[in-house]
Amino acid sequence: TLFNILEVDGIPLPVLSKEMWNKISNFQARPDDLFLVTYPKSGTTWMQEILDMIKNDGDVEKCKRVNTLERYPFLEVKFPHKEKPDLEIALEMSSPRLIKTHLPSHLIPPSIWKENCKIIYVARNAKDCLVSFYHFHRMASLLPDPQNFEEFYEKFMSGKVLFGSWFDHVKGWWAAKDTHQILYLFYEDIKKDPKREIEKILKFLEKDISEEILNKIIYHTSFDVMKQNPMTNYTTLPTSIMDHSISPFMRKGMPGDWKNYFTVAQNEEFDKDYQKKMTGSTLTFRTEI
Ligand code: PPS
Repeated sequence: TLFNILEVDGIPLPVLSKEMWNKISNFQARPDDLFLVTYPKSGTTWMQEILDMIKNDGDVEKCKRVNTLERYPFLEVKFPHKEKPDLEIALEMSSPRLIKTHLPSHLIPPSIWKENCKIIYVARNAKDCLVSFYHFHRMASLLPDPQNFEEFYEKFMSGKVLFGSWFDHVKGWWAAKDTHQILYLFYEDIKKDPKREIEKILKFLEKDISEEILNKIIYHTSFDVMKQNPMTNYTTLPTSIMDHSISPFMRKGMPGDWKNYFTVAQNEEFDKDYQKKMTGSTLTFRTEI
């Protein structure tokens, strides 16, 4: 079965019902909540592990207590293998909570702004996001079959995918950071210099850890280690939710894989469209990717 899809403001969301959407909009945030916000396939699972490791002072065994999906409520989703919507699980959780969401900035529950919660946003370059999202649609049984790359490319470019346009998402959150407590990070930067980026997070969270723990976090959250860890690689989920034999969730974990998928024509069209869609925003991505 597929996720039920509810359109809110023209954006397709994997939300059960209108009633559920009302509950999400009225979600009561707590001042010490930390929200992790991303457009899908931007490094969410990676950052979830980094943040849980920071929270648990580098205690690997604690972070291995259950898989990512059980540790972190995903604000807007109700998974078929769970009894309750994640929102209700979040309501019963003790503080401080770590909560994941893919919502665009204008659809976030207003109490998050009101309580001035800290938010970490991770952005990934659009081309790699597109390729990763394509493979995720192939292996995640709750998402519609992408048919072929060409069709998925068109859908992504027109924003007719879950959580809407990548362009609007990254730009919306970039603008929001001027008036809210948002740390805006880039997948490619974390890959290039995880130490520097984790130090930014520690400063943002006003937390001090030893060099030893910092190195432990870097190691434990590296792609190769997370790919082997059943509590981070999503292999403990039933195949009715994710089928890793089609494409593993921990697929390649590096920048630049788009070059293996985009045709020259698609790339040219993409670059032109990108220019148009990003005009007027000061947000820039590293161009050498
Ligand atoms: S989701 O479904 O939105 O939560 O997916 P998300 O976790 O955001 O993105 C999945 C992609 O992130 C890659 N990944 C990593 N890259 C580098 N280092 C680490 N530790 C890591 N963990 C996950 C994962 O492989 C997906 O990218 P692709 O390009 O498909 O490999």
